[in-house]
Amino acid sequence: MPIERKPEFFKGTQLKVAIIGCGYVGLPLGLRFAEAGHKVTGFDTDPKKVEMLNAGKSYIEHIPQNKIQQFVNSKHFNATTDASRLKDADAIIICVPTPLDERREPDLSYVENTAIMIQPHLQKGQLVVLESTTYPGTTEELVLPILEKSGLNCPIASGPDAENVPCDFFLAFSPEREDPGNKQYGLAQIPKVVGGVNPPSGRAAQAIYTPIVSKVVPVSSTRAAEMAKLLENIFRCVNIALVNELKMLSLRMGVDIWEVIDAAATKPFGFMPFYPGPGLGGHCIPVDPFYLSWKAREYDFATRFIELAGEVNTAMPYHVIEAIATALNDRKKSIKGSKVLVLGVAYKKDVDDLRESPTLKIMQLLQQRGAELDYNDPYFPQLHKMRHYNYENMKSVPLNPQTIGSYDCLVISTDHSSYDYASIVDSAKLVVDTRNATRRVIRHRDKIVLC
Ligand SMILES: NC(=O)c1ccc[n+]([C@@H]2O[C@H](COP(=O)([O-])OP(=O)(O)OC[C@H]3O[C@@H](n4cnc5c(N)ncnc54)[C@H](O)[C@@H]3O)[C@@H](O)[C@H]2O)c1
Repeated sequence: MPIERKPEFFKGTQLKVAIIGCGYVGLPLGLRFAEAGHKVTGFDTDPKKVEMLNAGKSYIEHIPQNKIQQFVNSKHFNATTDASRLKDADAIIICVPTPLDERREPDLSYVENTAIMIQPHLQKGQLVVLESTTYPGTTEELVLPILEKSGLNCPIASGPDAENVPCDFFLAFSPEREDPGNKQYGLAQIPKVVGGVNPPSGRAAQAIYTPIVSKVVPVSSTRAAEMAKLLENIFRCVNIALVNELKMLSLRMGVDIWEVIDAAATKPFGFMPFYPGPGLGGHCIPVDPFYLSWKAREYDFATRFIELAGEVNTAMPYHVIEAIATALNDRKKSIKGSKVLVLGVAYKKDVDDLRESPTLKIMQLLQQRGAELDYNDPYFPQLHKMRHYNYENMKSVPLNPQTIGSYDCLVISTDHSSYDYASIVDSAKLVVDTRNATRRVIRHRDKIVLC
C-alpha cells in the first residue's frame, strides 16, 4: 500500500472495492462497481448469503442471478465473511442496516460493529465510505473515533485551507438513494451526494463514484450529506401523511381523492403528486425521519412535522380496519367470524420486501378482531417469524374464482401489477381497496369500497 496516496488514486480502474453488507443496497452497488471493472469483495455476516453469492445465486428478486454469475466467473466479484480480507481493499463501503430499536430510537449497533470490525485491518491510504442512512454527525462522531483507534488519522477539516490537509486514510459519507424495483431509475441513473470528513476525503469519494453514477454532487461535509438523505425521506413521509389525512377527509365528504390528486398533478409547476395508502412501509420512510427527531433532542429541538406525520401514518392501518368493519356491517356481517383474504403483504407493489409493511399490522388487527384470515402475495409463498409479528404458519392461498368467492371480504393492501383486478372483483363478494387499484374496473363497482 503506498504511503502517500492522493485522492486522485480513486479515479483508477481495477480498484479493490470492499462492500460491507450485501443487502438491498450493498449487493447492487457491488455489482455496479464490478461492471465498471473494479475487483469487488462483498462482506456479510450471514454465511448463507455469502455462500449463495459465491455460487452465483441471487436472494433479491430484482437482482438477476446471471449478473452475479457473470462477475463471479470473471473474478470481478466474490463474497466472504472473513474481515481480515479488508486489509487488501483500496476502498471500503459500508451498507449495513440502520433500524430503530424497541423504543423507536436509532439502533446504530450495525454501523458501530462494522467500524469495530474494520479498525484492526485499516490501512494507510484506504478510503472508507458510510452509505447507511443515519442522523447528521454519525460519520464524525461514531465511525471516525473508532477507526482512529488504529493509530491512523483523518482530521475533521473544511474550507480552502484544508484542501490538502494530510490524512492517513480517507473517510466520507454518501447516502444510498436506491429505490428497489424502480425500472426508470437504477443506481447508475441516480446522482450521488458525497461529503468528506475533510476535502481530500470528499475528493477521494467523488473520484470513486464518478464513473458508476450519472452525476456526483459534492457537499461540504459528511453532516450535510447525512442531512440531505434525511430531508429527502422526511419530505416523502410528511407528504404521504398529508394525502393520507386528506384522503380520510375526502372519503367523509364524498370526494374521490385520487381524482383530485390527478387533477392537481396537471399543474406544471409547484406540485408533486403523492398517493394515499394503508400506511407507511419499507425500510426507509417509516424509520429514517426518527433518526433526526432523536438527534434533534440533543439540540432541545422538537421536530413537530416528523412527529405529526408519524402519527397520521401509523393510524392508517386502524382506518383500514374501520373501513372493513363498516363494509361488512353494511352487509350484516362482523369482522369476527368473517373470512378475510388480504391481497399483497409486500410494503409496496412488485417488490419482495416485507420490512415495516403496514399490511402486517392490518393482518394482526384483523386476527385480534376474530377474522378468519388468509393472504395472497406472489412474492411471498409463505410468511416467516418477524420481530413484531409471527405469521410463520401462513401460506399464500392460490387466487382463482372459487377461492376468491369463498371469502366474505378481500382487502387490496398492496397493488401488485400481476393481479387481474377485474376478474378479482368479478368473483369477490366484497373488495376493500386501500390503493385505488380497481380504478379501471367497470363491472360490479357496487362490490368495491375505497378506503
Ligand atoms: N433498501 C433500500 O431501499 C434502501 C434505500 C436507501 C438507503 N437504504 C439504507 O441502506 C442501509 C442498508 O439497507 P439495506 O436495505 O441494504 O439492508 P439489508 O438488511 O438488505 O442488508 C444489510 C446487510 O448487511 C449485513 N450485515 C449486517 N451487519 C453486518 C456486519 N457487521 N458486517 C457485514 N455485514 C453485515 C446483513 O447480513 C445484510 O445482508 C440502511 O441504512 C438503509 O436505511 C436502504
